[in-house]
Amino acid sequence: MKPITIALAKGRTAESTISLLENAGIHFPEFDPTSRKLIFHTQDQSVSLICVKAVDVPTYVENGAADIGVAGKDTILESQADVYELLDLKIGACRFAVAGKPETSLGDAHQITVATKYPNVSRNHFLKKGIMAETIKLNGSVELAPLIGLADVIVDIVETGTTLRENGLEVMEEIEPVSTRLIVNKASFTTRSQATHDLIHKLQSAMEVEK
Ligand code: PRP
Repeated sequence: MKPITIALAKGRTAESTISLLENAGIHFPEFDPTSRKLIFHTQDQSVSLICVKAVDVPTYVENGAADIGVAGKDTILESQADVYELLDLKIGACRFAVAGKPETSLGDAHQITVATKYPNVSRNHFLKKGIMAETIKLNGSVELAPLIGLADVIVDIVETGTTLRENGLEVMEEIEPVSTRLIVNKASFTTRSQATHDLIHKLQSAMEVEK
């Protein structure tokens, strides 16, 4: 039978996810985070693991190139991919927040300029508050934007708060919690229901033991 394919976001949460898979009895003997190899298999070839850029995980899953994906809630929300989100793996916990200089106030603003890696999340957040957000898409070091007058505020993930603090910025509003989630392709959820459920069940049991 065709293996179940898992798309894993490369980067800071990859090793914790691999440990969780190991604890769930799903071993990729050749996995090595320092290697440039991108595809790994379990010994019995029942599960394949592909290592992709975090932002691409929802794309692989939505299009069925992977049955399952593991990525941050931030990436999943921003992608607006049509997939099922079935499990919170509780890895890499942080939060989405609006941040800015201490003297900046959202007050009764109707329009605002937001620098962010997450324009969809930002627009939706401000839309709910009745504020038109002009978004400026950046790919990193977003905290610079309010400091040099590129934007009024930023929308970004905050983990320890160190980056904000070291740049003299403050959280103005919390948007929502972020952590690593398991997503499933909609067709796979039906056609590969047994294998998908087995895998989720194994992960849930491993998480219970880790508690
Ligand atoms: C992320 C995020 C914040 C920072 C938050 O950036 O965009 O800048 O981490 O973490 P903290 O609250 O613990 O400081 P990342 O490290 O991915 O770098 P980037 O600026 O290149 O996106």
